[in-house]
Amino acid sequence: MAASFYMLVPRPLLHLYTFTPLHLYTFTMKTGIIGSGSMGSGIAQVAATAGHEVLLYDNNPDALRRAKANLEKIMARLVEKGRLEQEEAEAILSRIRFVNSLTDYKDAGLVIEAIVENLDIKKTVFQHVEEIVSEDCIIATNTSSLSIASIASACQDPSRVIGIHFFNPAPLMKLVEAIPAVQTNEETLKRSIELIQSWGKTTVVAKDTPGFIVNRVARPFYGEALRILEEGLADAPTIDWAMKEIGGFRMGPFTLMDYIGHDVNYKVTETVFESFYYDPRYKPSFTQKRLMEAGWLGRKTGRGFYDYREGAKTPEPTKDKKLGEQIVWRILVMLINEAADALYLNIASRDDIELAMTKGVNYPKGLLQWADEKGINHCVITLDRLHAEYLEDRYRCSPLLRRMAREGRRFY
Ligand SMILES: NC(=O)c1ccc[n+]([C@@H]2O[C@H](COP(=O)([O-])OP(=O)(O)OC[C@H]3O[C@@H](n4cnc5c(N)ncnc54)[C@H](O)[C@@H]3O)[C@@H](O)[C@H]2O)c1
Repeated sequence: MAASFYMLVPRPLLHLYTFTPLHLYTFTMKTGIIGSGSMGSGIAQVAATAGHEVLLYDNNPDALRRAKANLEKIMARLVEKGRLEQEEAEAILSRIRFVNSLTDYKDAGLVIEAIVENLDIKKTVFQHVEEIVSEDCIIATNTSSLSIASIASACQDPSRVIGIHFFNPAPLMKLVEAIPAVQTNEETLKRSIELIQSWGKTTVVAKDTPGFIVNRVARPFYGEALRILEEGLADAPTIDWAMKEIGGFRMGPFTLMDYIGHDVNYKVTETVFESFYYDPRYKPSFTQKRLMEAGWLGRKTGRGFYDYREGAKTPEPTKDKKLGEQIVWRILVMLINEAADALYLNIASRDDIELAMTKGVNYPKGLLQWADEKGINHCVITLDRLHAEYLEDRYRCSPLLRRMAREGRRFY
């Protein structure tokens, strides 16, 4: 088995692959995308905008037709808003070929799979793609929750397989997580990062573990807010108000969950929980499960935590500053704990964890920098108090925070 680049490179050197402006040179190559849903067509738009010839395939001809119509609409809107010239928009669209067979992918330099989140189906597709593409083609998956190692194991040469995780909507979200599997070789990681940076994206490198960086570290943003709601300490509008107005987050957790959709958000939480062998830290919430079961999926169905139907009134928050500060600190300290633990377990470098949370989910500040500002010792004391109060493992303090507090160290 080829040794993984990730394992061979000392941690400090991983920064080179995150911050060096490797797109100082430009090159284009044929990029094949499989799956023309929201992610596949978004990634196609990004690659074509960066000047690449793109092939977009879907096994459902209707989905492919919808993707084409959507992309045409998006381009027209960008022209209307003055963000693109008409000729540029036409050139971008002309670089995307909507194809009915994967055989067209034989001379692609990179293939990104963005199909349904199902391991067996993904493995079959990877096996098939490998038979078509050239030996030096990188085959990437955009999976949010499956292990890259298991997808790579479907290939004869798993060293060219990697996770390239875009966020939704791909054209707007700056961050891309690059996830080498244990089988991935150095060249695959290096070339993938160069390419994605040349598309104008910020890359971070994450270990092949559930949730990678963002979907793991962000869990308490939802989980702790739900817990505070379930305990009756505050209602959803008050928690949202506190996180936005006092915490400085772009959106409160309940507004955000309604926006993401409870089917999607609950599923990610459940998958992370199961993948971590039922670690109570990631336990999903019944409140959210019931919304999902009721079909109150959020904005898209007109109802979630809030009522979006015509004429419905949004309840007012209790604007109690002291309560608001307690809410923000309890959620924030849980996020800090998660970020510290991700660093402790070498999921990513310190700077990549900060970049991931500020660029991937637009947090107002990096969580580790926030920990420094609040005081590491203060974080440890709060977590220990919560742990003593609830006697639940979910509030256990990361060994890294405890050690740093003892040694009087800071993250920066
Ligand atoms: N939606 C998100 O917010 C998001 C964010 C990051 C990553 N992802 C990941 O991206 C992938 C795609 O997600 P999505 O939201 O775009 O899904 P989607 O349902 O919008 O699109 C999936 C597309 O794949 C097609 N498809 C299914 N099986 C296929 C096959 N065997 N061959 C070819 N095409 C096939 C479907 O017809 C559909 O058009 C998933 O792995 C998901 O976990 C999603």
